[in-house]
Amino acid sequence: MKITIINGPNLNLLGTREPSVYGSESFESFLNELKARFDQVTFDYVQSNVEGELVTAIQEAGEKSDFIIMNPAAYSHTSIAMADAISAIETPVVEVHISNVHARESYRQELITGSKSVGVISGLGLEGYALAIEYAVEALKR
Ligand code: DQA
Repeated sequence: MKITIINGPNLNLLGTREPSVYGSESFESFLNELKARFDQVTFDYVQSNVEGELVTAIQEAGEKSDFIIMNPAAYSHTSIAMADAISAIETPVVEVHISNVHARESYRQELITGSKSVGVISGLGLEGYALAIEYAVEALKR
């Protein structure tokens, strides 16, 4: 089974970016842990700071992956284009936020992309990605 993980803007800085909010582990290091933990899954990983590239990544994952785990980062709150891309594909998307967006600024309360996703995990740190993958693996078995 193939799962694409898509990370949006500034998530390339995980590990050094506001560690009190996002932790001190890089995503590359965490991805290696995920690969070891879910050895039945083939992972594709895309990170971009550019909205259009993320739209293309969603479209491409819609063609080749069984499931998408996506943290659109700040674009969650603004991107109708990414929300439309989620609606345009058959592949299910679970949205993950490392921090608890509901406990933060008011401009983080609306999840435009999350409203088109099958579900949203927020505030459980990087472990949220692992929980989303567990869900995807079980959903794909059904
Ligand atoms: C984030 C939350 C967003 O509001 C923020 O813009 C991010 C990261 C998270 O993972 O907690 O860049 O998506």
